[in-house]
Formats: sequence, structure tokens, C-alpha cells
Amino acid sequence: MKKLVVLSGAGMSAESGISTFRDSNGLWEKYKVEDVATPEAFDRMPEVVLDFYNQRRRQLLECKPNAGHIGLAKLEKDFDVHVITQNVDNLHERAGSSKVLHLHGELMKSCSVNDINTAYDIPPANPDIHIGDKDPYGNQLRPFIVWFGEAVPMIEPAIKIVEQSDILVVIGTSLNVYPAAGLLNYARRGQPVFLIDPKEVNAHRSGIRYIKAGASEGVEKLAELLKEMKEVPANVPL
Ligand code: OAD
Repeated sequence: MKKLVVLSGAGMSAESGISTFRDSNGLWEKYKVEDVATPEAFDRMPEVVLDFYNQRRRQLLECKPNAGHIGLAKLEKDFDVHVITQNVDNLHERAGSSKVLHLHGELMKSCSVNDINTAYDIPPANPDIHIGDKDPYGNQLRPFIVWFGEAVPMIEPAIKIVEQSDILVVIGTSLNVYPAAGLLNYARRGQPVFLIDPKEVNAHRSGIRYIKAGASEGVEKLAELLKEMKEVPANVPL
């Protein structure tokens, strides 16, 4: 089976009702990154940061995967699909995708301020993190999110996955945030790279096949285009 790697961003979940960051009305128009998404913000105003992510988590619990998430999960019938997502929601998993790597953390998990690599599941029935909530060692819990200025531990495994891909599909990301945006550079020269987005996105790479559409419609079109590719042996440039 050919290895099809998907790099998804906030636009992937827009049709599920989750705001993107940089579109008009996006989250970073309403909040300042430095007030809610940095370790310094958490040191300064932990209640504000916890409240921001508690709201995001409550919103996620109201949302469902859209046809784009579901379409990608269905591609597993014909392809070895690996999803690398910048999204902290769990909509790819809920749609049935079996290999999902989260670059920027996971909203439904917490970690402690002293150990950001050990994650704990947050029960949907009790979705908020409060000041005073502790890990088993007595350390304050925080959202399991990679904040600006923090290392991105999953970037190395993500690079390996992209390097081994036969087909790369980029969906719903403005490619503004590194190191995630740099992953495109690890796809082999000449391999098919598709980009699904309703707006123009500069991927800084030649030979991209643009599908100018939202995630649901775009994944449907992609599935059509891929039909003729699934029979081609792996690692043969198309
Ligand atoms: P952005 O908000 O920067 O970009 C969203 C992209 O989705 C844009 O290119 C939109 O045109 C596109 N889009 C909008 N509606 C869409 C739809 N229905 N279908 C498909 N695409 C659509 O979000 P990201 O690139 O994901 O990081 O942002 C990257 C990171 O910046 C996020 O992971 C987050 C943020 O700050 C952290 O919080 C660490």
C-alpha cells in the first residue's frame, strides 16, 4: 500500500464549528497569543489561560467530525494513511483515523507544570482544569498543549513519516507556524503533493496540486484523484 501522509491544520475542523486562528474572526483576532498560549502567560495569569483552554475543550465536546475527517479515515481502505495534525482536537480519531500524530498537543489531555511529556486523559464528563488540580506527584496540572516558545517534541517522528511518504496532502493550514510548516520540505522531489484550502496558500514548493475547496469537498475531490494512484507501485514518481 502506498503511504499517504496528511498534514492538517485548523481549517480541517472549521466545518465542524471550530474557529481557525488567522482567518477573519479567527481566535487570534479575539485573544493575544502572548496572553493565553505561552508558558509566561500561564505563570502570570494561570486562571486566564486555564479558562481559555477550558472553553476550547467544552466547545470541542459539542463538535463532531466533518465529512473531510471521515473521508480521510475511509482512505485507509486503499492507503497506509498517517495523519500529522497541528490541531489539538480529537476529530481525526473520532472519525476513525487510526494513525494520528499531534504536533501541538491534545486538548483532551493534561500534563503537569513539572513534566510536560507525561499526559493524562481528561474525562469528558469533567472537562475543566482548575488551579489546585494536581498530578499524582502533587504538581499543578496544565493543558497538554505545545505553547509558543516551547519545544515541539513530535517534530522528529513527524519528519520521518513525511520522508517515507509516497503522497503528501496538506489541508487547512496557513503554513505560518514552524516547525510544522517546514515538514513539506521533507517530501521527496517529484512525489505528488496536494494542498486543499479555500484560500491561496503559499507552500514554498513547486509542483503542488492545489484543490481550492473546503475540507469536506476537497477530500471528496482528492479521493477521486487518488483512485488512479492507488495501483501504482510505491516510490514510483507519478
Ligand atoms: P490558521 O488559522 O493559521 O490557518 C487556517 C487555514 O485553514 C487557512 O489557510 C484557511 O484558509 C483554511 N481554511 C479555512 N476554512 C477552511 C475549510 N473549511 N476547509 C479547509 N481549509 C480552511 O491555522 P493553522 O495553520 O492550523 O498553534 O495554525 C497553525 C498553528 O497556529 C495552530 O496549530 C496553533 C496556532 O497558533 C498553537 O496553538 C500552538
